[in-house]
Amino acid sequence: MNERFTITTPIYYVNDKPHIGHAYTTILADVLARYHRLLGDDTFFLTGTDEHGQKVQKAAEKAGITPREQADQTVVRFQDLWKKLEITHDDFIRTTEERHTKVVQDILQDLYDRGEIYKAEYDGLYDVTSETFITEKDLPEGKSVEDLPNITRIKETNYFFRMSKYQDWLIEYIEQNPSFILPSFRRNETLGFLRKPLQDLCISRPKSRLNWGIELPFDSDYVCYVWFDALVNYISAPGYLRDDDRFAKWWPCDIHLIGKDILTTHTVYWPTMLKAMGVEQPRTIFAHGWWLFGEAKMSKSLGNVVNPMDLIEAYGVDAFRYFVTTEMIPGQDASFSEDAFIRRYNADLANDLGNLLSRLSNMIGRYCDGKLPDGNRTFDDGSPERLLWNDVQIAVDAMASAVNDLRIDQGATAAVSAVKNINRYLEIKQPWTLAKQEQHEELHRTLYTAAEALRVASALLFPVMPSKMGEVRHALGLDATRPDIARLKEFGVLQPGTAITPPGSLFPRIEREKATDTEPPGSVQPPEPPRSANKAPKEKAESGAAVPGVITIEDVAKVEMRTARVVDAEAIKGADKLLRLEVMIGDKRRQIVAGIALHYKPDDLIGKTVVVITNLKPAKLRGVESNGMLLAATRGEKLTLITVDREISSGATVR
Ligand code: ME8
Ligand code: MG
Repeated sequence: MNERFTITTPIYYVNDKPHIGHAYTTILADVLARYHRLLGDDTFFLTGTDEHGQKVQKAAEKAGITPREQADQTVVRFQDLWKKLEITHDDFIRTTEERHTKVVQDILQDLYDRGEIYKAEYDGLYDVTSETFITEKDLPEGKSVEDLPNITRIKETNYFFRMSKYQDWLIEYIEQNPSFILPSFRRNETLGFLRKPLQDLCISRPKSRLNWGIELPFDSDYVCYVWFDALVNYISAPGYLRDDDRFAKWWPCDIHLIGKDILTTHTVYWPTMLKAMGVEQPRTIFAHGWWLFGEAKMSKSLGNVVNPMDLIEAYGVDAFRYFVTTEMIPGQDASFSEDAFIRRYNADLANDLGNLLSRLSNMIGRYCDGKLPDGNRTFDDGSPERLLWNDVQIAVDAMASAVNDLRIDQGATAAVSAVKNINRYLEIKQPWTLAKQEQHEELHRTLYTAAEALRVASALLFPVMPSKMGEVRHALGLDATRPDIARLKEFGVLQPGTAITPPGSLFPRIEREKATDTEPPGSVQPPEPPRSANKAPKEKAESGAAVPGVITIEDVAKVEMRTARVVDAEAIKGADKLLRLEVMIGDKRRQIVAGIALHYKPDDLIGKTVVVITNLKPAKLRGVESNGMLLAATRGEKLTLITVDREISSGATVR
């Protein structure tokens, strides 16, 4: 292994304090950075703040302070939050630092000298919110400038970067480098944007209008446009033009993690800027979706933000990190609700993870004097030990691919599902009964195996929940700060005889009155199952005409099932568990909404032959009509679709 890994987050505006959206990107980057460090990769994780420009100047004016005071006060809010969230960035860049401003000026001067930047008069529209020049075409349909308070018409002389001349190059570059922009539908979005002629980019602002910025080195009446300044942070921080060795070590960046709100600046402006400078492109720009509150994007300007500090105070840092990394499928939007938070916390953390550690350490305390017993370490084929270890290894592999595919949500879910399996294993083996029956060998084997499985699960979850998994590892007598990630495939690492220290309550259950939003976003149930299956009508059961739970061949015949071929699949906005599928059943096309988004990517489904209940009453899920129901096998958090064993045309009857 031992590679080099560079990851960045956007640098956040200091016009206001951070919210859950900023926390999300930064936590995701942190989790990835922590994994790579554990894998032995030399890692550089960069974050910081974007301190110039109109937004910050306006916020300062409103607060009656200078922009610098605004920046100095707000940057602390970000830094404090990162500390609290145990973010392990290696560098934090502020765009007002000299190590940045000087590099921006050197770049500007060089581009100007080489004719990449020219002066011209601009007469057109300007969007104050995004600080961009726009054209009439960009206005929302049916709206004119007069309707939109954030759009103004301006006429002024400015400096322009010859972005347009790189349009063809950029299209070709994106086409030839499929992992340059991810997920792939974002790549398509950028390519779509590039179908229209690309304009040159205005990179200056006259000081008469905005003076909070980096002065152009060739014209002191102007400051640099905030984006042309901010994007440069990704290279100024690792030492571009200042420290060649350091820069060569950390650039090109492996992953620029961003939100989809800043896709164009990162996938159009930034690559063309780098091209003009003659600097290598980053390897991947990954845009995740938005945290929504209800239907709306959570944003400072809308004021519907969730303050991470409140949640951390209430439920703890690790629970917060766990929730955001597992609740959002990177790439899609996710809705925030405290109810969903509590549900996930209680289900995964309190009931499974916390419970496992406490019962295991209690039993080792009670039956083995608090010392890890020496268990038989060979597995018989098909034994519960073999099955459990297989499940745990599935989680190890899942996490390895999750780190590569930027699907930490899946990796963490697989690890928690391994934890659930350890609990299930204990229920099957019943150590308490083994103790009563004095079957010591089997008892010891059971407790040792469960502890080994927990060692692996806690290592997998360590980057997501460093403190709590540290506690688990400490309880198991392991190094609490550095999991043995290289030994996850090995059974028998824990030393028998190690004192198992009972921890405090790891994740105390959150007891709460029924929360206000009864159907939290993101936990939409699949369509109601067909009546009949399990519940025999009540009267019948009581009259003795039918045994409850038993159905007849007539009941089965009521459910019509057919094979179907998936021809299209996409995420449903605002519903992170749902996918909208289009399937062909014979020559008929149907739309089905299925709650499988946590388990399948839309692209993976296309072409699959699945089994559909076709005579189910249509239902609407999140406003999308669903005509039928997919069959899937589920266990705990696992779900796999029922498919056919051999080739058969769609529309075939299933019985
Ligand atoms: O755009 N859901 O800064 P910014 C998910 N300074 N992520 C969100 C989010 C939400 N509702 N809201 C914000 C800027 N984010 C520029 C960036 S980079 C050279 C300059 C996250 O303070 C997400 O990562 O508006 C998004 O891209 C970023 O914060 C925007 O932060
Ligand atoms: Mg923003």
